[in-house]
Amino acid sequence: MTTLRNAYLDALGIDRWVPRNAPVETAPEIEPPRVIETAPAMPAARAPQVPSFVPPPPVATWDELRGRVAACTACDLCKTRTQTVFGVGNTSAEWLVIGEAPGADEDRQGEPFVGRAGQLLNAMLLAIGLPRETVFIANILKCRPPGNRDPKPEEVSRCLPFLSNQIALLRPKIILAVGRIAAQNLLATDAPLARLRGKLHTFGEANTPLVITYHPAYLLRTPADKRKAWEDLKFARATYARITGGANAPGNG
Ligand code: URA
Repeated sequence: MTTLRNAYLDALGIDRWVPRNAPVETAPEIEPPRVIETAPAMPAARAPQVPSFVPPPPVATWDELRGRVAACTACDLCKTRTQTVFGVGNTSAEWLVIGEAPGADEDRQGEPFVGRAGQLLNAMLLAIGLPRETVFIANILKCRPPGNRDPKPEEVSRCLPFLSNQIALLRPKIILAVGRIAAQNLLATDAPLARLRGKLHTFGEANTPLVITYHPAYLLRTPADKRKAWEDLKFARATYARITGGANAPGNG
């Protein structure tokens, strides 16, 4: 596992951390929670709601939700998509990773984060001990915006109920939002990502801890910020350890 993790840290372009008095696999320093900011239960999209649109009531099973998403025609993205991209992973996962929207590869394959950004996301997750298949990965939007443009507020407002339903079914212990679009929509804010990362937020009525980091596609373009992303990932891991009383929590060695 150590060798594997080192390989992924190398992929991230991050110097390996070696603790002084602990085995290599022990987590780096535990950081106490910084600021805690709470997001609304499921914020309305920041744009005005479209009055004629009534979101469907939440459903109680993953299969039903999958069917709903696959059949969705609530916005014009249904006209240009190849298929919907529901999300992937372990439906008992304790970690939920939320990105922005499918790109061309995801639209073709029907699975989130399968392109180059997905490879880096896998590396980021594995660097904190999370093989891709152990988490659940979803996006703010279930359909690809043409040309990978930013999601429109109306698209977000029509799609967010699906993510809300996914969160209600999954009941994750922690959410990791990657990128500005995911962060701003989950927190219903226009604040820049630089102001949102580096602190602990909570999400929804369950006050689920929410950590923000950079989008892997951004990190591919801006490798200098990988160091900050690594700090965010360690912060997320320490937060998870603290709330679950895990091996990396303070007082547990
Ligand atoms: N970028 C995202 O935000 N989500 C994907 O699924 C792929 C790329």
